[in-house]
Amino acid sequence: MNQFSPERSLALDLDRTDPLSDFRDQFLIEDPDLIYLDGNSLGRLPKPAASLLQEAVTEGWGKRLIRGWNEGWFDLSSRLGSKLSKAVGAREGEVIICDSTSVNLFKLAAAALQIRPGRTQVISDVLNFPTDLYIIQGVIDRMYSGHRLDLMDSPDSLTIPEDALSELLGEETALVALTHVAYKSAFMYDMAAVTDLAHRTGALALWDLSHSAGAVELHLNEWGVDLAVGCTYKYLNGGPGSPAFLYVRKELQEELLSPLWGWFGTREPFQFNLEYEPGPGLQRFQVGTPPILSMLALEPGLDLILEAGVPALREKSLRLSEYLIYLFHEWLEPLGFQLGSPPQADQRGSHVSLRHPEGYRICRALIEPKEETRVRVIPDFRPPDNIRLGLAPLYTGYLDIHTALSRLRDIVSGELYRKYSPDRKTVT
Ligand SMILES: Cc1ncc(COP(=O)(O)O)c(C=O)c1O
Repeated sequence: MNQFSPERSLALDLDRTDPLSDFRDQFLIEDPDLIYLDGNSLGRLPKPAASLLQEAVTEGWGKRLIRGWNEGWFDLSSRLGSKLSKAVGAREGEVIICDSTSVNLFKLAAAALQIRPGRTQVISDVLNFPTDLYIIQGVIDRMYSGHRLDLMDSPDSLTIPEDALSELLGEETALVALTHVAYKSAFMYDMAAVTDLAHRTGALALWDLSHSAGAVELHLNEWGVDLAVGCTYKYLNGGPGSPAFLYVRKELQEELLSPLWGWFGTREPFQFNLEYEPGPGLQRFQVGTPPILSMLALEPGLDLILEAGVPALREKSLRLSEYLIYLFHEWLEPLGFQLGSPPQADQRGSHVSLRHPEGYRICRALIEPKEETRVRVIPDFRPPDNIRLGLAPLYTGYLDIHTALSRLRDIVSGELYRKYSPDRKTVT
């Protein structure tokens, strides 16, 4: 696989022959000297989203006013969910857009525990994103006080060993709740195998796809996945705080009840009945009035993902990360960096973490250079020492990686990071 060389001309060649290179023009890139490697936190703005939002405000909100609800707003959650289902390998009616990932996790975790009575164990892992663990802790503390959360350990802080799950799973397990691609290391589970293992003991599997959707191939139906949630502001380019998604396998939908009984989840919200009656299918997992403007902004990003096709996106993402890891070995490893992601491609999502004891100050030097250079690079930092480099295959190019890594090399070999304060900003 690896026929790379460190010359800049190779990066240019790779960009020239990249079959997805035209998609970059679909995004607003105002400053060509700003290298954006944080699409795994907040995706770039698709150009059509800006005009669409403008129109939604002035035409939709401004002119159609309340009539908008009967002109597409009311069904937006399910219509966009239906588009997204194609990118995650789900059937029609199995995905809706609503609320945040945290709230969706709460709804699905609580609903799942209710249909596994007598089972008192939830399994997750120490690599999981904190909100996922807090939500489960909260569900247990507030609603299922006899239950417990057991976490699989990660001896290398990067991966979860293959046999960790079978060591914890048993007759008591109600739910296995995991993030498919870990936020720090990008470690990726074999979702089909883990789901199958959970099912064999009678447990349900709930996946957080925040770092997967739009970047890695997902076959939720084929893999027998029961429940899933995920955000849309990363690789799906939905915008800051864009509404999240929720997936429930069709066969489970009538059995599951949301713990949040809001009027948008009832069968007929505009009958204004006094008694709650859960709506059909996934409608019952909606709660209150959805944020229409934010939801409208999601569609252009989804369309781009579907147009490119997830297999092609994954192929490019893998090639980008192999190239990045090659340059890391060439330039950065000798300077004291360590690879903070699994080296095996099939165990890795679409970002690569590089670890360095001065990681935070190095990030600041990348973002805000104090010396004469036009190049600014935006990665992000995750404690204690991870510099995360997100590879969003719709718009990240090989030259971006080449420039970013040579800048990293200069910052560390010249100790340029010493000019920066180690005090961390609120958002890192
Ligand atoms: C795996 C994962 N889950 C959840 C979240 C955040 O959830 P929310 O959108 O509810 O803030 C993140 C944020 O980066 C994440 O990485």
